[in-house]
Amino acid sequence: MTIRDFPVGRFVFFVSGNVHKFNEVRRVLAECGIASAMLRVKTTEIQDDNVENIAKVSALEASKKSNLPLIVEDAGLFIRALKGFPGPYSSYVLRTIGNEGVLKIMASLDDQYAQFHSAVVFCSSSLSVKCFLGVSEGKIAQEARGSSGFGFDPIFEPSEGGGRTFAEMSMEEKNMFSHRSRALRKFGEWYKSASSKAFKYEGNIALKEPSETLGG
Ligand code: IMP
Repeated sequence: MTIRDFPVGRFVFFVSGNVHKFNEVRRVLAECGIASAMLRVKTTEIQDDNVENIAKVSALEASKKSNLPLIVEDAGLFIRALKGFPGPYSSYVLRTIGNEGVLKIMASLDDQYAQFHSAVVFCSSSLSVKCFLGVSEGKIAQEARGSSGFGFDPIFEPSEGGGRTFAEMSMEEKNMFSHRSRALRKFGEWYKSASSKAFKYEGNIALKEPSETLGG
């Protein structure tokens, strides 16, 4: 298969090493009629105040390295009482103080409001870089609850969830109103309408062998 034959609008690679994320992404994109595969490419995660810039840099790098049409998603938890912290430092906070640490900090504060932000960035060698944003509003729970999902899911109660945390929901329920699913649906709408004609690749580069590029 050459890049010219690539099923634009119907298939895309998702660059990540996070299987939990990919499982969510795969389902939302499938609902939009788009198939996906996880692609492991090592990229730089820059330090920036916003998830969009982080995802853009990573997507451009992954596209250059793989020469495949792909998306990168970056997310963060923004807590109002902490002026948006941890935001782009979400991974660091989870690795260090974890959910218990966040709950301890929040216990001394009155305002529990928080938002999850997601930026989905599409990049290919011929279509321009496109960014799609999604937000999920909610609050930090008083204690960790639930066992599904990943990351901050046990401590985040989305406003539409009837008081349940993301970790107390099935993946289908989380996908109904998560930041990631909102950004992905916007991407899906745009991608489906991006016709193959718009995909003007000047070369004839063969897709890499799946064994080289695809992750589990
Ligand atoms: P990333 O940089 O997009 O991978 O996400 C930053 C951190 O936020 C990671 O440690 C994730 O575990 C966490 N995170 C991202 N998305 C979610 C989510 O949907 N639910 C809970 N935690 C998340």
